[in-house]
Amino acid sequence: MYLIGFMGAGKSTVARRLSRMCGLASIDMDSYIERLAGMPIPQIFEESGEEGFRRMETQALRDIAAMEPMVVSCGGGVVTRPENIALMSAHGTVVHLRVTADQAAARISDTSSRPLFQDLAAARARLEERLPAYEAAADLTIETGGRSVGAIAHEVRRALERRGVLERLDASSVA
Ligand code: S3P
Repeated sequence: MYLIGFMGAGKSTVARRLSRMCGLASIDMDSYIERLAGMPIPQIFEESGEEGFRRMETQALRDIAAMEPMVVSCGGGVVTRPENIALMSAHGTVVHLRVTADQAAARISDTSSRPLFQDLAAARARLEERLPAYEAAADLTIETGGRSVGAIAHEVRRALERRGVLERLDASSVA
């Protein structure tokens, strides 16, 4: 299951909670990329530019798609490449955690680790530009505004159970 959405939507925190709730492993794509590159994300942007980062992101998605079933917390820009959307759709269920730029800004305490969230006006424009891609890529969308991590994770879990996805994940993880 892939959690997508804008920076500050709570993807990593919700992924960790969901993985505990469902007994599945979880993986954070940004951390995976940082390990792969041997440097933090702002440095990757400095040394290789956004395009270099996007190449690593697609490689990370390919690696992760080949791993055991798990909860994947994606970087906010994963939907900027159609190839990434195709990979996610082919390998799992895509859940969009929807947030506004203003809510995201309130949640992000330190923007220094996010080179593409430096000012609110630019973040609002970037989110507006990406929103159609998030919606098109998602199998389901969950509102996150004003809600706790537990409430969001429960709603994702219930929605996935209704769709029969969790049983499928459980069954294949013990096979
Ligand atoms: C990005 C989001 C970040 C990280 C990188 C680029 C984006 O991930 O992948 O800074 O383009 O939205 P989070 O959404 O986890 O902050």
